[in-house]
Amino acid sequence: MALMLLSLVTTACGQAKQTGNKTESDSNMEKKILTVFFSMKGETYMAGGRIENLEKGNTNVCAEFIQKSVGGDLFEIETTKTYSKDHFKMIEEAKVEMQSGEKAQPKKWLDNLESYDVIFVGYPIWWGTYPPIINTFLEHYNLTGKTIIPFSTSEGSGLLNTVAELREVCKGATVTEALAIRGSQARQSEKKVSEWAKKMITNL
Ligand SMILES: Cc1cc2nc3c(=O)[nH]c(=O)nc-3n(C[C@H](O)[C@H](O)[C@H](O)COP(=O)(O)O)c2cc1C
Repeated sequence: MALMLLSLVTTACGQAKQTGNKTESDSNMEKKILTVFFSMKGETYMAGGRIENLEKGNTNVCAEFIQKSVGGDLFEIETTKTYSKDHFKMIEEAKVEMQSGEKAQPKKWLDNLESYDVIFVGYPIWWGTYPPIINTFLEHYNLTGKTIIPFSTSEGSGLLNTVAELREVCKGATVTEALAIRGSQARQSEKKVSEWAKKMITNL
């Protein structure tokens, strides 16, 4: 009877594959999950309108949806660089920074990053790629054996070549397919983001 019940539950859940007493998705859920992201606050423009003091950037909003749906820890990568509060000046400053190859530095490192098995990495698209701080941050750690799951927000570019770029930086890690969200839609995208994150964990 107990066996029948277990098999019914497994079938009802659809995706779960059984290994011994545990399903694969059960053991995936036991993996140590981290969501790290970089995201800008402050002045921005969304859907044509100026927002003076956005408390949470678009990528931050998506990162929180991911953590809410699959659990684990959340870490915000912040840069020591101070950008102009004027959005259009900031965009130009970022361009100069990227063209100069300046090495952005994080305000703080995450001491135990290497203890996680699965790391969701979130970034906005800046001038056709991810912000330089993402490289500095990821290059700092030994990511061998980790699963890196990228997600990104942008206003139309999508992921571009960022997954391939991450594969270069995250040596020894498996970098999976990624999710692209339109930044101005981030706040309405909880269902999409959560379902994607759960699917990524289940399919590991
Ligand atoms: C410096 C800078 C450069 C950007 N470049 C692009 C771009 O090349 N393509 C694009 O679609 N959006 C671009 N955007 C828009 C952002 O990717 C988009 O608004 C994103 O959702 C911002 O995420 P955040 O709020 O988490 O910082 C750029 C924004 C900034 C600030």
